[in-house]
Amino acid sequence: MNITAKILNPRVKTNHRTESNNSLVDYYTEAGPDYEFWSKNFNMHFGYAEKRWDCLSREKMLQRMNEVLLKSLELKPGNDVVDLGCGLAATIRYGARKYPKTFFKGITITPWQVEKSQELINRLNLKNASVVYGDYANLNIQSDTIDAAFGLESISHAEGTNKTKPLNEAFRILKPGGRFTMIDGFIKKPERELSNAVKGMYRLVCQNWALPSFPNINEVVYELKSIGFREIEVDEISWKIAPSAVHAPFLSLFFLIKSFFTGKKLKRQNWNNLKACFTIFFLGIFRKSIGYYKISAKK
Ligand SMILES: C[S@@+](CC[C@H](N)C(=O)[O-])C[C@H]1O[C@@H](n2cnc3c(N)ncnc32)[C@H](O)[C@@H]1O
Repeated sequence: MNITAKILNPRVKTNHRTESNNSLVDYYTEAGPDYEFWSKNFNMHFGYAEKRWDCLSREKMLQRMNEVLLKSLELKPGNDVVDLGCGLAATIRYGARKYPKTFFKGITITPWQVEKSQELINRLNLKNASVVYGDYANLNIQSDTIDAAFGLESISHAEGTNKTKPLNEAFRILKPGGRFTMIDGFIKKPERELSNAVKGMYRLVCQNWALPSFPNINEVVYELKSIGFREIEVDEISWKIAPSAVHAPFLSLFFLIKSFFTGKKLKRQNWNNLKACFTIFFLGIFRKSIGYYKISAKK
């Protein structure tokens, strides 16, 4: 069944609002195009180095992350899959090609990304992928209708360190037995227990990437259990993403130099992205406080 039938009254907003009083939407509207510098396919996440030579190509690592995520969902032909915070639909474009009989629906709260994603999907003539405007904390999707849902570096944008709202929504829309995967950066202890140096970098990254907080690994696992998810598997993959994270500060520097020579005027959100990209690598070194995880679960 086509997934569109399960989306209640799709609300697609097409106006490009900036300075919208929503720092997250402003951030992704202004800094969104910069991600092409990171990934020609607009992958807005870190990469996964699995094979020895993966680390030589950033794009290969980024696509590998999509592969790892989709594999964890154990997709079957005819399945309906929802991407909670799809960015420019890089994962669902990758998935729609690899699994041509599976239906992918991306949800994003950034109106600009809806249009741009749809353009990228149309360019590939993918009939089994689409993107709609929506809030993953309040999804316009019927309960118990979706086979798999995931959030790749997106659920961190939700309120609180347990990210309860999108996790509850994911559970609600999934069919019994449906699979859920969340991949993101996490804090391993409460913010108040971070050292001053780590806390300083952590706050800088949060502010500049429009994150209220990182998810806390213990709280998220507890939350998943409380909601009713079962077969929860937690996999720390910090070392797998490290080779791609190394690219972030260097690329930020190249971006800055290129912007200077091409006369590109950087706006506040472009600077924010640069500052966070530069800092995230150094923050990631503090492995007792920060880690990158893949969490999979079943309804
Ligand atoms: C870092 S990007 C990751 C995008 C994509 N998952 C990827 O890996 O390429 C975070 C995404 O989460 C989306 N997002 C943040 N909060 C959201 C919300 N409440 N509802 C829907 N999307 C949200 C943003 O619009 C953005 O597209």
